[in-house]
Amino acid sequence: MLRRRELVIPILFFFVATIFISFLQAEANPKMQKQSFGKTEDGQPTDLYILTNKNGMEAAITSYGGTVVSLKVPDRNGKIDDVVLGYDKLEDYAAGKAYFGATVGRYANRIAHAKFTLDGVTYTLPKNDGDNHLHGVFNKRVWDAKDVSGRDGQALELTYVSKDGEDGYPGNLSVKVVYTLTEQNELKIDYSATTDKDTVLNLTNHCYFNLSGQGNGDILQTQLMIRADRFTPVDATLIPTGELRSVKGTPFDFTTSTVIGARIEQDDEQLKLGKGYDHNWVLNNATPGSLLAAAQAYDPHSGRLLEVSTTEPGLQLYTGNFLDGIRGKGGKVYNRRNAFCLETQHFPDSPNHPQFPSTVLKPGQHFQSTTVYKFSAK
Ligand code: GLA
Repeated sequence: MLRRRELVIPILFFFVATIFISFLQAEANPKMQKQSFGKTEDGQPTDLYILTNKNGMEAAITSYGGTVVSLKVPDRNGKIDDVVLGYDKLEDYAAGKAYFGATVGRYANRIAHAKFTLDGVTYTLPKNDGDNHLHGVFNKRVWDAKDVSGRDGQALELTYVSKDGEDGYPGNLSVKVVYTLTEQNELKIDYSATTDKDTVLNLTNHCYFNLSGQGNGDILQTQLMIRADRFTPVDATLIPTGELRSVKGTPFDFTTSTVIGARIEQDDEQLKLGKGYDHNWVLNNATPGSLLAAAQAYDPHSGRLLEVSTTEPGLQLYTGNFLDGIRGKGGKVYNRRNAFCLETQHFPDSPNHPQFPSTVLKPGQHFQSTTVYKFSAK
């Protein structure tokens, strides 16, 4: 029989080893941080989740609107900057109209005259953009959040049930958005949804990027490439006319990398209507379910490169034409053209354009969509 004293050393060794191993694991896999982001006006608590990876990249995401609040990325010298516009406080997100970093739905982008017909029924939506409906209300809702970190990296799952009739749309819609920050410096966004009644759906993320760092001036020197030979020209209210127009010989040709500012002030009817770029591009070779390279943006000052890939058929480039001195994070002021958005999506106003890829979701169908924003520096 072992005496008590002889057991002390192995037991002690066991405890020390366990503590040491869990310390090593914690070093290798730091846990996602969670902190309160305050309460909404009607008393709902919201949180801010900080996802990190081993390269020093960090994404802060709030359950309010499924919103990316900050995205910290190294430049060519390893210097970390926050490359997305946003606010410091929940109240500013609640009051804001710019959709900074938000998950946008039920229908991202515009629906003409705030009306569409589905299965013979005409649905009327709130008009919040002149005579049109724009972007829905998902960005002003509190989503349920869950840490689903795994082998791919730290991951945050956000879910929201949009009730039948909310914002005028038919069907109870269950939406899930999973943000994953990978070790390859990608922010991967996986969307999925189901409905109990025929509905329309278009989900996107509305990050405003400035690869030199948020609040650090305009994005006119950013070099942009979009893999699209065609775009959807718009009318005076930014609703697609239905035409898929070739970009050849127009300021909309980004098939080879071109600085955003090179042609933005040209005397072009479409640029005038958008007050700059605020248009949807028809991505080449888009195939449902295939994740394809869609665009890239390079900032020569910082060396940061953003590559966007998506399973979606369209991409809205918006050059911050309506930013008008908004006070954002850390007291920074955001003016016109101080950021660009690359919103992967279906085409605007698809419910009223039967020839566009369909945005109808039916009971029994499982909607799935992925977009990846990958960062590097050179
Ligand atoms: C979208 C629209 C723009 C503008 C922004 C939000 O990108 O296309 O016209 O409304 O959202 O300000």
